Amino acid sequence: MSSAPEIVFAGTDGGALTELAAYEAVGGLTALRRAREMTPAQIVAELEASQLRGRGGAFFPTGRKWSFLPKPEQNPRPHYLVVNADESEPGTFKDREIMLRVPFRFLEGCLVAARAIESTRVFVYIRGEYLREFEVLVSALEQLRARNLLGDVTIVLHRGAGAYICGEETALLESLEGERGQPRTKPPFPAIAGLYASPTAVNNVESITTVTPIIEMGGAEYAKLGVEDSTGTRVFSLSGNVVRPGNYELPHGYPLRDLIYEVGGGIADGRTLKAVIPGGSSTPILTASEAEKVTLDFDSLSQAGTAIGSAAVIVLDDRCCMVQLGVRVSQFYEHESCGKCTPCRVGTRWLTQILKKIEAGHGTHADLDLLLDVGDHVNGTCLCPLGDSDAIAVASYVAKFREEFLQHIEDGGCPFHGTSSLDGIVAPTDVHEAHAGGAEIHRPLEVVG
Ligand SMILES: Cc1cc2nc3c(=O)[nH]c(=O)nc-3n(C[C@H](O)[C@H](O)[C@H](O)COP(=O)(O)O)c2cc1C
Ligand code: SF4
Repeated sequence: MSSAPEIVFAGTDGGALTELAAYEAVGGLTALRRAREMTPAQIVAELEASQLRGRGGAFFPTGRKWSFLPKPEQNPRPHYLVVNADESEPGTFKDREIMLRVPFRFLEGCLVAARAIESTRVFVYIRGEYLREFEVLVSALEQLRARNLLGDVTIVLHRGAGAYICGEETALLESLEGERGQPRTKPPFPAIAGLYASPTAVNNVESITTVTPIIEMGGAEYAKLGVEDSTGTRVFSLSGNVVRPGNYELPHGYPLRDLIYEVGGGIADGRTLKAVIPGGSSTPILTASEAEKVTLDFDSLSQAGTAIGSAAVIVLDDRCCMVQLGVRVSQFYEHESCGKCTPCRVGTRWLTQILKKIEAGHGTHADLDLLLDVGDHVNGTCLCPLGDSDAIAVASYVAKFREEFLQHIEDGGCPFHGTSSLDGIVAPTDVHEAHAGGAEIHRPLEVVG
């Protein structure tokens, strides 16, 4: 097991810090006090020194993003901080644990970030299904307000209605404005014209939570953790066929092999490793031998032809049929496509249909060519990366496991003969639908603190 320092989960000792007094007892609110004595430019400089890069998937440098916002004297419109707590990428479940276990570190990060971009309005857009997380945040917000710690900042907790696309930053802004959750064309980027056409920083929950320890320890000190180009720690969501799935905070650069075998206890049920999806369902797959060699950071994973994405590591054992995996992943993107652009709306559906045909044993070699051709016509032709994600993921399964696709075609059916198991790996879309009932609709959609 790793003895890496915990930064995001520091002081929790495996539990949760949901009472303000308990959070203060482990040094909580130090960053807020410090930040209030700093100028906004000094806070941004600390973030730049830390080299923190966004934890939502795109890995964009946080300090640089903030520096793009115009100063209030350049643009007098209100400036907004919007926190992306929509967490819906299959395999990703870290932000929910951050909100549940360190809500004050997260909200403290919101207040520090708001000061950095000279904003007094923060919106936290939280996935609708995250009810417990929402309630923990409501309680934490009330505790901060009771102590007058919010200053002149208003924090609005806004519950989404359960659409993956609303995690895409501009679709999220549309949804927050009460419009249909569909991406906007960029430019302009949110830093220039975001929420209500005003300068807006959109950041992920983990990014914002990490701002707090960066101000506590100093950016340069934080940058000593991890590896070059991927500083600091990361909360990895480990799932699939491992003995101990869960969220693990580890430094960037940690060997993927050690995450699976030491931290995660190895492959469950005495099976063998077949493949790993290293950064959420949208990232290209790695074979077992590739997974043995890589470390969990931007450079190592890029060199291996994949990406760190949302740091959701999905482990697949030898029972996984790659065509079935393709069907599930493609169905997810088809289901979540907002339909705004044709290549994605039509292409994701088409990819699923071809994959289903191959899985059922009715596919031909021409269908396999068509699958890749459709993917090529989706990839790079869409407004946002959702369509690309489907095409890229499916193409990687074919590239790495072509023999298995050919076996389906040549044997006229799945070579696993019903023994393939994808239990706990990318739930089929009907499971999503079953969980999307309106049971919680009587809860407030918004809380203002
Ligand atoms: C289809 C799609 C879904 C996304 N979902 C999320 C999400 O659930 N949470 C998140 O933080 N970022 C998500 N992103 C990335 C956001 O667009 C954005 O890059 C991120 O919130 C920026 O925060 P960061 O710089 O702190 O990472 C998604 C992107 C796409 C294209
Ligand atoms: S790529 Fe898909 S999800 Fe993204 S805007 Fe186009 S149709 Fe919508």
